[in-house]
Order: sequence, then structure tokens, then C-alpha cells
Amino acid sequence: MEIKKLKKFDDDFLWGASISAFQAEGASTKDGKGLSIQDVKKISEKYSDFSVAADFYNNYKEDIALLKEMGLSSFRFSISWTRIIPDGDGEINKKGIIFYHNLIDELKKNGIEPIVTIYHFDLPFSLQQKGGWSNRDMIVKAFLKYSKVLFNEYAKKVKYWLTINEQNVMIMIGSKMKFLNGGDKKFNQNELYNQSHNMFIAQALVMEEMHNNFPNCLIAPALNIVSIYPNSNKPQDYLAAMNASVMRNWYYLDAIVRGEYNPIMYKYLEDNNFLPDFRKGDYEILKKAKPDFIAFNYYTSATVKSEINNFIEVEELIDQQRLFDVPGMFSYCENPNLEKTEYGWDIDSTGFRVTMREMYERYRLPLMITENGLGHSEQLNENNTVDDDYRIQYYEKHLNELRKCISEGIKIISYNAWTAIDIVSSHQGFSKRYGFIYVDRTEKDLKEMKRYPKKSFYWYKEYIKKIKY
Ligand code: BG6
Repeated sequence: MEIKKLKKFDDDFLWGASISAFQAEGASTKDGKGLSIQDVKKISEKYSDFSVAADFYNNYKEDIALLKEMGLSSFRFSISWTRIIPDGDGEINKKGIIFYHNLIDELKKNGIEPIVTIYHFDLPFSLQQKGGWSNRDMIVKAFLKYSKVLFNEYAKKVKYWLTINEQNVMIMIGSKMKFLNGGDKKFNQNELYNQSHNMFIAQALVMEEMHNNFPNCLIAPALNIVSIYPNSNKPQDYLAAMNASVMRNWYYLDAIVRGEYNPIMYKYLEDNNFLPDFRKGDYEILKKAKPDFIAFNYYTSATVKSEINNFIEVEELIDQQRLFDVPGMFSYCENPNLEKTEYGWDIDSTGFRVTMREMYERYRLPLMITENGLGHSEQLNENNTVDDDYRIQYYEKHLNELRKCISEGIKIISYNAWTAIDIVSSHQGFSKRYGFIYVDRTEKDLKEMKRYPKKSFYWYKEYIKKIKY
């Protein structure tokens, strides 16, 4: 359906970019920071670890100056749990508290709205040793305590809060990409669905805490939501796509937004003996909490069919965007209609629109895009920049679809590209870059970590400037 008249973006629409703490900050043991599961995981010899990353911890002022130059009005970053509470649930680290005050103040000084993720893949290692997300009593208490510390410190300065980054990726891919929620540990499905339930409970309590005590703030989950296509017009394939959507998208959003377990998912969990340990009062906890908006990360769509593939999974190929087979529910397949990025992710800007429409029609909550972008291997050219036209094209297409959604009446409050500066990719090191700003280092050679705006930096700057009028 073509849109005849495109609407303008609201004046208060937030144009931003994102990073996460463990992928950008570095300084992994500086100023009292404790170890997270990302700091202790065994990484491939090929790729960099997270100890220095993009050195954002020492460079944030210069980086924010560049973000301002780009014309950004929002910046989404995560707080490192172990910088605030080094062992996850004990003493508070003053220096960590000060760092984020300084960061937030610097953003505000430059007219940039901070959007804070409470937890982005970097569980404190000492909590993991006590059972991590599987140990309900311990983790719910610790997550609530940590969140309260953040709210008491920063809620006066920060309006937008995100609870957990990509709970669905941690649960769906968590046994395959081991580092996501357990250091080097593999979990079985039963344990993962218990972890997921514990995340629902912890998150609901945190949202309630915010609503009760900090009424000027807004809070939301940040899931990785994707539209899922049937491979053909066979009715069975359509059902398979519905199943995949339930397992990847709606099971999470139904529990978080509506406070209900999705019935199809409940049946799947029951039939496979994966039902979590519900406690008395859990449904009340879930029902009471409701997010103020829905934040989501979108990179690509997915396609499924009903017949089983019986293929052998190659560990190297597993990542957060690739679906797999769930016997009786759906099977993964390729979509020949879409181009791919260098790293094999389908480029689907129409899918972006489908995803937003589906979400808005189901939940009627404002949407915030917290990640969207393209990873590519890059090097500086002779002019000390990167001509990343492929990234510009990706953004152009996705932002066109975003504008169509706004014109169709979907309420969208902010778009945050992934990423502001180059960071360590979650599992492909510094080889796979996402930033508008090039960080001059390689996997093993840290060099001076100088920053160089890429072509997309100037493109985004112009886009933001023009779209306002
Ligand atoms: C999302 C994560 O899953 O995808 C980010 O929230 C991650 O942390 C991003 O960096 C891109 O994935 P990758 O593996 O290419 O870094």
C-alpha cells in the first residue's frame, strides 16, 4: 500500500544512536568495577575481548562532542551493573556512580536526551556463580536492588529507561550463544524458560518501582522483535510463521505488556515439560506492571516453513538473527527475495514496517527503536574516512519505512541507530563495525583509538537536519 501524503516527524521526535556498556566502555577493571560474565568468557582467538573495547570510559567527552556535531537528540547506552555494584548485590561503588552522573550530565549539557538500559548482556560474574537468572530469589532481589540504586541516583536526570536488553535473544539463543546469559554455561530449555520467567518477574517489579516512586520517568523492555514470513502460501507454513512469531515475539511482549502468558506458548511449554515454576502471586505481579512504551531492536526479518529441515547446525553460523528448527512449531529457511549484508543478515526495510505495524496493532503503545543498523568490515581510506554507502542505503530505506509508519498513525517516539561509535560486536569482535564514527583500532592492535567520522556520519547529520523541516 502506497502512502499518498507523508507526515512530518514530531518536533520532539528523538534522533539518536546507541551503544552498550560492555561493547564500548572498556576499562573493565578500572575504578573498582567488578567482573561481568562478558569479562570472563572465553573468546575466540580471532577476536578482541571486551577489556578495552572502544575506550568510551576514557573518551566519552570527545565522543559526545561528535554526537552533538552529528545533531543527535538522544543517546541510548547501558549501565554496567558491576561498575555500580561490583559483586552484583553488595557494596556500591562510588566511582561507578560518579562516572554515569558525569556521562549523563555531559549528554544533557550537549542537548542530548539519555536513554538508559539497565541491563545489556553483562550479568555480574559473582551472581552467575550463585546461579544467575536461574536462582530466582537471589536474582530478583539483586536486580531490584541495582535498579533502585540507579533510579535514586539518576531518575531526576533521565526520563527514558529500558529494563532488559533482548530477553528473547538470551532465552532463544542462550543455549547456543553461551555467553549471553551464563558465561560459558550451556542451559537446557527447561532452565532457560525458568530464567525467562524470573526475568519477567524481576522486570515487572522494577517497572512497578519506577511507576510508584518516579512518576516522571517512562520505562519499557527492549526486545529484538522481527516480522516472520511463511515460506509459501501453504496454510501450514502460515501456521508455522504464527508459531515462530509467538515463540520469538509475542510470548515476551504478552507477558510484559499484558501481564499474561501467551496461550499458544503456554501449551507448547506444557506439552514439552518446560513450564516454569510459577509461584503464588506471580500473575498479580505481572498484571500490575505495564510498560509506558515498547522499545525494540530490529535488524532483519525471518522466514519459516512447516516441514522439518533436519540440518546440522554449524556453531559458527548461529547468531541472534538466525532462526532454527523447533519440531512441531516451525523450521528455519532462507528468503531468496532479500539481499544480505556482508555478515549474512537479510536486509528488509519493509519487514521493519511490518514489525512496527504488528506491534502497534497488538499493543497500542508508543514505539522506540533502540537498535537498527548494519555491520560491515571496514578500514580507513587515504582520506581518513570510510565511504560506507551500503550503511547509508540501509538507513535510508529503513527510515523511509519508519516515516510511512508515522504517516499511517503509528506512534513512534525515537529512532536510535546501532551504533554511534564502532564497538566490539557481540560475537565478531572489532572486525564487524556498526558505527557512524570509526574507532581506529584492530582486533589486537589498539593503536591510539582515534575517532574518524565516516561518510554515514555526515549523511545522518544532514538527514536529521532536513527531516525537521
Ligand atoms: C543485538 C545486541 O543483538 O545485536 C547488540 O543488542 C549487538 O549488543 C547487536 O551488538 C548486533 O549484533 P552483533 O553480534 O553483530 O554485534
